[in-house]
Amino acid sequence: PFIILASSQSKDYPYDYEQLSQEERLVIHFSHVVGEDTPKGMAARKFADLLKERSKGYIEVQVFSNGTLYKDGEEMNALSRGDIQLIAPAISKLTDFVPEISVFDLPYAFHSLEEVHEYAESAAGRRLKEKLKEHNLYAIGLWDSGFKQLSNRFHPIDELNDLTNLRMRIMPSDILVQQFSLIGAHPRKYEFNAVYHELQIGSVDGQENTLTNITSKNLYSLQDYLTISNHGYLGYFVLFNLDFWNSLDADVQQLITETFKEVQQWEWNLTEQLNNQTLTDIENCNCIEIHYLSDEDVKEWEEQFQPVYDYYKSKYSEEFINALPKFQS
Ligand code: LMR
Repeated sequence: PFIILASSQSKDYPYDYEQLSQEERLVIHFSHVVGEDTPKGMAARKFADLLKERSKGYIEVQVFSNGTLYKDGEEMNALSRGDIQLIAPAISKLTDFVPEISVFDLPYAFHSLEEVHEYAESAAGRRLKEKLKEHNLYAIGLWDSGFKQLSNRFHPIDELNDLTNLRMRIMPSDILVQQFSLIGAHPRKYEFNAVYHELQIGSVDGQENTLTNITSKNLYSLQDYLTISNHGYLGYFVLFNLDFWNSLDADVQQLITETFKEVQQWEWNLTEQLNNQTLTDIENCNCIEIHYLSDEDVKEWEEQFQPVYDYYKSKYSEEFINALPKFQS
């Protein structure tokens, strides 16, 4: 009865959210693990603000950032149980549930964020999202964090072999394990908000992440070398508990869907901007030695990573690799 679409007829709607009690609102608990100053953190805020405004306060998205409500590894279970209704985990963290989704983790699977967006909407991408439904998860869309870069405390990484013997923090994904094992590095899985501590006490030597994640947690202050490799994609499926989603009225679903689409485009633009700005800031701080891969290097690294593709094909599926934009003529 309180649903108000943000269309022209809603202007006359007499309800004012200030008058709604907590019980009368639709409260959506949204838990995530990164800082407020990252693309995900800012998009979560914007999504909440727009929905509140457009529903005149009926829809209240309560955002819990920095893993304060649930950590990595806890938020999926909390969502399945219905304790929270919305999360936006890195796709790598969904690979235990839908192993084929680790196609997104393949090194140099995508050469641009546009390719990622195209793939997520392709028939293959839609099939992967359908598989999430088997786990009571509804993917309303995709947010970017960007491409990952490599940092460590010992020496510059110019060639893949420079990673040999380094202990590298990774997100939990079999393909990321393969990516580092292939070159004789030692992958170690730690939850995001533990990375600073693990680097500090030296249980890992380095890590891979996007620039905004690296700076928002001050990881670069513990590292001496950064390589701009853009070797892997880090992005999020924004997931509702499917039962919760199905319980919503159609007009509420429509308002959420339309608002999400708009925020998604905004988030994509913001990610590009913030990652560029962050690179400039790191370049100017003179606090870490930066190495850049040439186009030639990238080609070489991509070729050297081929065994990880073979592994994925033999263990998971060929179809999701074959559908990658870079393999379409
Ligand atoms: C990480 O664990 O490194 C990332 O998934 C954190 C995030 O959510 O961006």
